[in-house]
Amino acid sequence: MMLRLFGGGLALAALVLSATLSNATADQKPYVVKDGKTDQNTYNGWRRYSESCLRCHGPDGSGSSYAPDLTNSLKTMSEDTFKATVMGGRVNVGQANQNVMPMFANVEDVAMYIDDIYGYLKARSDGALDRGRPERFKDEKK
Ligand code: HEC
Repeated sequence: MMLRLFGGGLALAALVLSATLSNATADQKPYVVKDGKTDQNTYNGWRRYSESCLRCHGPDGSGSSYAPDLTNSLKTMSEDTFKATVMGGRVNVGQANQNVMPMFANVEDVAMYIDDIYGYLKARSDGALDRGRPERFKDEKK
């Protein structure tokens, strides 16, 4: 009896701990912006975005007549849904004009840097980062 109680206590402690841990990560922002300047990863996200997404989603994630404003999408879309959409693509067949979001799972420059792209767009979505090429803390190349 004592053993079972003890085991249950441990399991509960593990549950509480993991809940605390995942809360901590949920609160953490996926980007670093200070005084309008970014870390390398967020900057890299801007670069990759500009290479692979800008032609449809417009400069700075702000949308175009063809593809949605991602700074708006990320106000409600979860990180998981974002990544699944980018990796798997999406075809909106409900409209007269078929809008196609290509899949990027096989595009290395996107798949490898999906966290950076998400971080950059989240910073734009949160209003932490202005439009245009971000300045970095340290001007090193990546
Ligand atoms: C060939 C044009 C094109 C390119 C390139 C493109 N997208 Fe899209 N994307 C679209 C279209 C069109 C939609 C809307 C699809 C729909 O209506 O279901 C979309 C939808 C999305 C959505 C869902 C938005 C929402 O509010 O539901 C996300 C997220 C997204 N794109 C991210 C990206 C990212 C990140 C990249 C670059 C890695 C990218 N897209 C590149 C055309 C594109």
